[in-house]
Amino acid sequence: MTDDQWFQSAVVYQVYPRSFQDCDGDGIGDVPGIVSRLDYLQQLGIDVLWLSPIYTSPQDDNGYDISDYQEIDPVFGTLVDVDELIAKAHARGIRIVMDLVVNHTSDEHPWFVESRSSKDNPKRDWYWWRPPRDGHEAGQRGAEPTNCESFFSGPTWELDEATGEYYLHLFSRKQPDLNWENPEVREAVYAMMRWWLDRGIDGFRMDVINMISKVTDLPDGQPIPGRAPLGNGHPFFLCGPRNHEFLQEMHREVFEGRADKLLTVGEMPGVTVEEAVLFTDPERHEVDMVFQFEHVQLDVREHKWDRVDVDLRDLKASLAHWQNGLAERGWNSLYWNNHDQPRAVSRFGSDDPAHRVAAAKLLGTVLHLHRGTPYVYQGEELGMTNVPFASAADFLDIESVNYHAAAVAAGEDPEVVLANLRLGSRDNARSPMQWDLTDHAGFTTGTPWAAVNPNYTDINAASAVADQDSVFHHYRRLIALRHDEPAVVHGTYQLLAPSHETLYAFTRTHEGTELLVLANFSGDEVAIDDAVPDLASWEGAPLLLGNLSPEVPTTAPLRGWEARVLKR
Ligand code: NOJ
Repeated sequence: MTDDQWFQSAVVYQVYPRSFQDCDGDGIGDVPGIVSRLDYLQQLGIDVLWLSPIYTSPQDDNGYDISDYQEIDPVFGTLVDVDELIAKAHARGIRIVMDLVVNHTSDEHPWFVESRSSKDNPKRDWYWWRPPRDGHEAGQRGAEPTNCESFFSGPTWELDEATGEYYLHLFSRKQPDLNWENPEVREAVYAMMRWWLDRGIDGFRMDVINMISKVTDLPDGQPIPGRAPLGNGHPFFLCGPRNHEFLQEMHREVFEGRADKLLTVGEMPGVTVEEAVLFTDPERHEVDMVFQFEHVQLDVREHKWDRVDVDLRDLKASLAHWQNGLAERGWNSLYWNNHDQPRAVSRFGSDDPAHRVAAAKLLGTVLHLHRGTPYVYQGEELGMTNVPFASAADFLDIESVNYHAAAVAAGEDPEVVLANLRLGSRDNARSPMQWDLTDHAGFTTGTPWAAVNPNYTDINAASAVADQDSVFHHYRRLIALRHDEPAVVHGTYQLLAPSHETLYAFTRTHEGTELLVLANFSGDEVAIDDAVPDLASWEGAPLLLGNLSPEVPTTAPLRGWEARVLKR
């Protein structure tokens, strides 16, 4: 492996700074808080730390609405704190990856303030401005230039009263979309990226980077059943016509010629395997890997808020499709959790106290034994669960708040809406990190901005670190295994028993080493002889890693939520 591919044997840990560790007592996590927990991260063994946005922001979408890319929001700290974080992380061999949010800015960013100031402002064209729809007056119902629906409910257009035109926002009305067709916009973004790299960071996680190129005449979308006249604009702004061109240009302008190979990962809702091969083929110089969404949409029907249980057969088929699709060219990222997803142990495993620890370890085992770069989201290594929200008033996230308002206004049953929120809300992932048994779980000495999950008395880092059988130590072993065992990094992948309803089984093979991964996604015992064609030949193969004790023969039936990795 050349040094350029260091990210293939690396594990990334995502910090959501607002909820990680507060140092100054204001109830919001901060950069000094992250510095204070570097020993913990080093003990876990991670290679890279990805920080969700800490830049100056009105915090309409918790920092994904940026008003100054080159300053730190005072709630999180200062540039001096960030320099200290970079230095102290590097001293521990941990690289730092920053979030890059350049599909949109905040409406309070000076670029947008200028752009909206008049129709002939030189920055007018830095955003997407359009007059009202033909035959309509500004502000009238249906006057939006197109019918497309925003990701945060309602239309993607907001009227600017002063100039009588609408601006495009795929997310909240405080997140106007930048117009990447304009070369000045691109150059301003690249200059900002170079500035951060010169400061010593090691790469970028690129927020919705497959939305930067749009079909420029912005047509109407197909009306969405149940929400018409709102329409689906995805075909016009996901993986648009110039997406590859823009990323290649970014590579040339920002990354080429730098002494160290950096890590780039593009978040890409709706990306297909075929597109991902192009985005991640090293010879095309676009990004190292993408975050795809297929496996986290299997439990979603027409609408993000309309959820069903995940069928394990679909999950296996989806992940295998991506493993095989990127096997020859490209590279996968691997994740169950992030700040936008409900907690995986509640969603794909079991948060029943009788099974939670085993299920959390099983999920980690399955994911980390796939081929790709694994991402661990803060608290995942403790098996943190969804939050028991009591009422609609407990939800803080703009996506949840807007959905609740729109659904209730449309006459949906508030109890159903609340149930949907409990399952799907991003607030599940954003409750404070559970450090110890002190007040507010050791997250803050003040009043936490979001409620601490009351289960912190059972689930917290202090007790997990002290217990060699904890989820934490299992993750630590998984990370070490990736560093030590080339078959985990490079092995070819073969899914076994694709139609088994509860067993997830696959092999990884590399230069004479074969790994067999077995995982029982149920509380009931499951036999494996039918699933593994040559099971007898695995008899006596050592157990590389398991999640249950006491140990039983490696080819015995799997107990409820048991996972095993065998090597020969
Ligand atoms: C994806 C981010 O992960 C999410 O948190 C954010 O709301 C949207 N992009 C908009 O930036």
